[in-house]
Amino acid sequence: MAPATSHLIGLLLGTEEDWPSAFEALVDRLGEILGEDGARHRLAVERITIEPFDLRDRPRYELVVDRLAYWYYHPREWLKKVALMDDVYLLNSPFTFQSMEKHAAYCAMLRCGLKVPRTVLVPFKRPPDNARWAYTAARYNRPFDLEAIAREIGFPLFMKPYDGGQWVGVTRVRDEDELARAYDASGQRLMHLQASIEDYDVFTRSLSIGPETMVMRFRPDRPLHDRYAVDHEFLEPAVGAEVVTIGRLVNAFFRWEFNSCECLVRGADVFPIDYANACPDIGLTSLHYYFPWAVTALVRWCAFCVVTGRRPRLDLDTRRFFDIGDDPSLSYEEKLAAYRRLGDESFEADRYAEFCATALGHLDEIVLAWVSSPDFDRLLVDTVRALYPPHEHEAFVAHFRGLVGQWVREHGAEPAFSG
Ligand SMILES: Nc1ncnc2c1ncn2[C@@H]1O[C@H](COP(=O)(O)OP(=O)(O)O)[C@@H](O)[C@H]1O
Ligand SMILES: [Mg+2]
Repeated sequence: MAPATSHLIGLLLGTEEDWPSAFEALVDRLGEILGEDGARHRLAVERITIEPFDLRDRPRYELVVDRLAYWYYHPREWLKKVALMDDVYLLNSPFTFQSMEKHAAYCAMLRCGLKVPRTVLVPFKRPPDNARWAYTAARYNRPFDLEAIAREIGFPLFMKPYDGGQWVGVTRVRDEDELARAYDASGQRLMHLQASIEDYDVFTRSLSIGPETMVMRFRPDRPLHDRYAVDHEFLEPAVGAEVVTIGRLVNAFFRWEFNSCECLVRGADVFPIDYANACPDIGLTSLHYYFPWAVTALVRWCAFCVVTGRRPRLDLDTRRFFDIGDDPSLSYEEKLAAYRRLGDESFEADRYAEFCATALGHLDEIVLAWVSSPDFDRLLVDTVRALYPPHEHEAFVAHFRGLVGQWVREHGAEPAFSG
């Protein structure tokens, strides 16, 4: 019998050990997968090392999951090379997420008709270091009244970087004094002023991997380990569907396959505020209960992409979305429904569901056995030890065991550490 076709998946990593170890453990246990045509496949996974590369080198990887290139640029250029020259499948492609930061994402989703709060981009507080600046500014920079813009948007408002992430440089501004202080502090960072959604009912954070989305109740004011609440019915079904559709739209639009999307829900209105996080954190200690789902979804989507030979795309083809967004005869609900169809098509949602049910039918059992094993518990303990000071180890190990244990029990097994 011919050997199974092997597909090498590369992980481009920064400091994390938890989800990569989980991903490796699951791929290792997965065994052979039968493709839609009955052919046999096998996944392999490797952590990518950073070294000089010849632009003509052929990479060994078929797919790369990237959690590094957003701050380390040598591998980012390597990603571009393997995308342009070798058709390597990327989660995510720097071609979309380097150029399409938060500002671009606001623009695109505004044109699609979403309820993005009023947002104004103001010029730099501190000018760029460039010899041409003085002349250019004197000739072309119009003086502007920052306070007047802020008053028009209304206090409180948010001042935040046009390309932000991880709350860096984000300020809730309540009055003129805070406005002046925040703007002074912004220095050479380009800032948006954005109307604040006050008194919202729920903060949703949806993590998407391919066509899978987990909508979680997020509590931004809590410490990192306590931000995701374990809560299954916190949204009306229609609102929940809208939140999923918004995430799918953003991801299909930018071809982001691994992303998180933040929406504030007030009454029946869903306001997307942050949805360009194309390198989302899926750490064990932030996702806890949702961690097994996230790693499993990542294995499933990677398997689907390489086994079905899904072709990576570098272009965005935005016209498909704008034709819907620009159509004055469509209501908001009709637009959402049309985006959902486009999004599901882009991610081959039906084919994926079928693939998961047949080719990967055995994966859930493998995941459950692994998450309830001493191996997983060791990963949990090691992760806590790596992240927290010694005097907190015991409390946090118990905390995360409790949450993961809940997941294990809800899936019909007993966690390793209980007995
Ligand atoms: N328009 C807004 N209305 C209400 N809260 C907001 C708004 N924009 C940002 N925030 C708050 O500030 C936090 C950080 O802003 P966000 O846009 O998510 O930036 P980052 O990319 O740094 O996460 C959000 O999680 C939310 O709590
Ligand atoms: Mg955010």
